[in-house]
Amino acid sequence: MPGRVLDSVAEQPDRRLIEGLNTRFIGHNIFHYPTIPSTQDVAMQAARAGAFEGAVVTADEQTSGRGRLQRSWLSPKDGSLSVSVILRPSARELARLFMVAALAAARSIEKATGLQTELKWPNDVLIDKRKVCGILIENELRGSAVSWAVVGIGININLDTSEHPEIAGMATSLSAETGRRVSRSEMLKCLLEELEAVYLASRGGAPVHQEWRARLVTLGTRVRANTGDSIETGCAESVDEDGALLLRRDDGSLVRIVAGDVTLRA
Ligand code: BTN
Repeated sequence: MPGRVLDSVAEQPDRRLIEGLNTRFIGHNIFHYPTIPSTQDVAMQAARAGAFEGAVVTADEQTSGRGRLQRSWLSPKDGSLSVSVILRPSARELARLFMVAALAAARSIEKATGLQTELKWPNDVLIDKRKVCGILIENELRGSAVSWAVVGIGININLDTSEHPEIAGMATSLSAETGRRVSRSEMLKCLLEELEAVYLASRGGAPVHQEWRARLVTLGTRVRANTGDSIETGCAESVDEDGALLLRRDDGSLVRIVAGDVTLRA
């Protein structure tokens, strides 16, 4: 990877950063920063400059972490895991990537902590109805071909959400749920291993859609869906093969929502 892209402390990839990492390609090149605005920005720049598939950017702290729908993402020093993974999927694989990433995040959190997770459409990971992990996928196309995709995953690890009024009540962390400090490096290792396993399985034709759907807490509940352009309210009836949400409006009509965010209503 060209050095000019990553010209801070992490100029060269560190291959020993994740001890015992058992993957074929994800995390073999890892660029770690103490503090940067956003791992996503650095990874996108690296992807444009030709970084290998599987290269990873992590940071102890992000000062301008980004979420979906132009939201900000809180990543205080050492409190969270902030990771961006560069992938080069086909157009078909790209369409499934949000399910792949959500499944990998949920499975890895369960494996590393023993906690039970749930998914909120499209790819928030919750523990007991509170968000513990968010996923942002950004990509670049050249015509109909995918140049790259960057999967950004943020997990609240040792974060005291009560110290952050903007997320208190809606969010939780692994330390709050387990009652102990959780190792960020162990979580990262588990996450990258699961991401590669689910990504390769999906590539090979495994029906990731089924497990993703089975884990969704959204279905059958009343939701308020923010598509970015409009707000829809109704019952989250189902999801289709592509992962789009089928929402039954109160007037009986059905609307298909391909991107956005939902709030679960009582
Ligand atoms: C969301 O739930 O809205 C998505 C949050 C994604 C946060 C991660 S943290 C690593 C990567 N860098 C960012 O700036 N954002 C993503």
